[in-house]
Amino acid sequence: MHEVEHHEHGATLLFGIGELTTNVPGVAGADDPDDPTAVVRDAAILLDGDRVAWVGREADAAAGVEAAIGRAPDRTVDVGRRAVIPGFVDSHTHLVFAGDRAAEFEARAAGRPYTAGGIRTTVTATRAASDDALRAGLARHVAEAAAQGTTTLEIKSGYGLTVADEERSVRLAREVTDEVTFLGAHVVPPELQGREDEYVELVCGEMLAACAPAARWVDVFCETGAFTPDQARRVLTAGAAAGLGVRVHANQLGPGDGVQLAVSLGAASVDHCTYLSDDDVAALASSWTSAVPGTGTVATLLPGVELSTRQPYPDARRLLDAGVVVALASDCNPGSSYTSSMPLMVALAVQETGMTVAEAVRAATAGGAAALRRSDVGRLSPGARADLVVLDAPSRTYLAYRPGVPLVSHVWKEGRELHPSR
Ligand code: NIG
Ligand code: FE
Repeated sequence: MHEVEHHEHGATLLFGIGELTTNVPGVAGADDPDDPTAVVRDAAILLDGDRVAWVGREADAAAGVEAAIGRAPDRTVDVGRRAVIPGFVDSHTHLVFAGDRAAEFEARAAGRPYTAGGIRTTVTATRAASDDALRAGLARHVAEAAAQGTTTLEIKSGYGLTVADEERSVRLAREVTDEVTFLGAHVVPPELQGREDEYVELVCGEMLAACAPAARWVDVFCETGAFTPDQARRVLTAGAAAGLGVRVHANQLGPGDGVQLAVSLGAASVDHCTYLSDDDVAALASSWTSAVPGTGTVATLLPGVELSTRQPYPDARRLLDAGVVVALASDCNPGSSYTSSMPLMVALAVQETGMTVAEAVRAATAGGAAALRRSDVGRLSPGARADLVVLDAPSRTYLAYRPGVPLVSHVWKEGRELHPSR
């Protein structure tokens, strides 16, 4: 691959792309009209400023570039027949935390089950940490994710659980991403054990008021050991009234009413979806047929959790066959899934949840974008944000075919080379 000098924004033509995943059916150069990932072979892509300006076959690039910007690109990059995909959209992480839970992980490896109670260990460590310690952890994990191809990242609060600690969590998260989620209703904090409703009131009142300015989303952990569907409804309704979009953690550790609640509130996403009834699947599917286009509830699968907690994997095939829009995310957090690797999620989804490679790559890109109700990311076509991953592989299949191998060669975000950093 050619070395490029570091330029400020200008126009860059990447050519020599063996396989370009665009996720935009009908895009110029895609050969299979029935392929939702709209692959273009022997492709090129023009980035102009922070946007994609043109996509198509390499043979059409000269004319395409001229039509798009009326001049030659400022630079050209030969990617050497490698595969290119949209930057990963990781729509679910918990990166504002301190400490680790390696001991809890080790206990699980010795046969102990995962429970929501472990969250409190991280709450204690997070409350005790300085702002700068939390910032340093965020920076480290965000850089780690970027090096693995993540160009859009959602980050939740949820390890503070006081007004001040939750406010601090969303504020620090907002320093590194626009996709910030207020998860004050993660678990009931130790000091309010047995006074759940009092805590729910705090979350819906003073805590929400303190956190809403830095947040785009409200989330709640609706599960045995965390919050009941009734408590979850109160939190989500209050969040929506404060102008936040709705997302839900549900059906992770067992069946429950969280998925139905999420759909009934028009949530953008319900995450985990490990234990689903036929009615849950039907409700998710109908959210995509009856709603205004693009406003259904995405089922976000987090297979890093099942890997780390030794739970059965969710059944993606069942969801996809029913017409549900599915996303993949890392759930990166120190308890249930301490990995930021979206390539690993693709590999797990293919091996363990019944997805094809195309479906898994789409779920990790366009699916994440849908879960965040974003139309500017997760796709590569004119007007999209210029976020892409060059794989050190001839096809995206290698993400699943060579699990655990670092295949992310170069990452471009908003038209600039983000990784490797120079
Ligand atoms: O998404 N499910 C709830 N919250 C996290 C777990 C957080 C933790 O164990 O610290 C999750 O898996
Ligand atoms: Fe989570």
